[in-house]
Amino acid sequence: MRLRVFSGTRATGRLHLGNYLGAIKGYIELQNDPQYECLYMAVDVHTITTPYDPKTLAVATRNIILDYLAAGLDPQKAIITKQSLIPEHTELAFLFASVVSVARMQHLPTYKDKIKQFPEHVTMALLNYPVLMAADILIYQASLVPCGLDQEPHLEITREIARKMNQLYGTTFPEVQRFTTPTASVPSLIGEGKMSKSIEGSYLNLTDSLETIEARLAAAPTDSGQGKVVPATGGVANLLTFVEIFEGQAKRQSYEHAYTTTGISYQALKRDLAKAIYQDLAPIREKHRTLTAKPHLVDEVIHQGAKRARALAQSTLHEVKEKMGFV
Ligand code: TRP
Repeated sequence: MRLRVFSGTRATGRLHLGNYLGAIKGYIELQNDPQYECLYMAVDVHTITTPYDPKTLAVATRNIILDYLAAGLDPQKAIITKQSLIPEHTELAFLFASVVSVARMQHLPTYKDKIKQFPEHVTMALLNYPVLMAADILIYQASLVPCGLDQEPHLEITREIARKMNQLYGTTFPEVQRFTTPTASVPSLIGEGKMSKSIEGSYLNLTDSLETIEARLAAAPTDSGQGKVVPATGGVANLLTFVEIFEGQAKRQSYEHAYTTTGISYQALKRDLAKAIYQDLAPIREKHRTLTAKPHLVDEVIHQGAKRARALAQSTLHEVKEKMGFV
């Protein structure tokens, strides 16, 4: 059996540049390697663990898949679909919940953050979020997960569940590993932290116009453009990271040299950078336009993907139910 890869994206809107550089590029690298069998899903069931709008959930989920395809995920090479079409994930999650203690889940940093953010929505579903994520991965016996560093605590839970299940019931779940790309952590455009959908001004969408990209970059904080040492954190450091990603390392070095000698003109830097980002995203914009005009193609991918995924999921679930004594 080929090694399996699983990853998921929450259906809270469009994919942004941080998702693309941090995760999707890794998805593409793995789908192109024949050593792996990859499954990539919009994880819409995870969306209901925090407040959401039922009126827009289906559309937001579909948009994630549209962005996946525009960005280069290929249904010929990977299984691409949405989680809710494979109800076996939630069934396995309930079985997994029987080997996880409540205390362990309450100590997770992601859970603590969310209950601070949504004190009125401290639900069982939220507490169970990482258990469902473990089920997403292990139902396909996946051993490799391309995702951001912030997901590591969830992968640790996944490993603990696999070990416990193997020990108690004799299943053979693998030990999962995180797969990272060189650009795993994409900085925010506004100085602090990472690019995030929940922080206005921090991100770019994959199909943004040149004017939008210019406007977002214009708002990125800078300094006088000259000094003894190039800043290692903050707005200028982040801009230089983007220069390196989109214009190459040599260009970054020339700016760094300018910083300690003649000084940088941020206006010119931002103008050139906006152009470079816009050009880099041209194929994605083009593909996005084509797919938007042919909605049935996206639906077809989702349904075909679900059929293939479901067959794999059912086989694992059946084995687990047998070993746990239901059959
Ligand atoms: N928790 C992930 C995130 O917030 C999304 C996710 C759900 C996921 N299930 C997954 C990621 C399985 C990787 C594998 O980004």
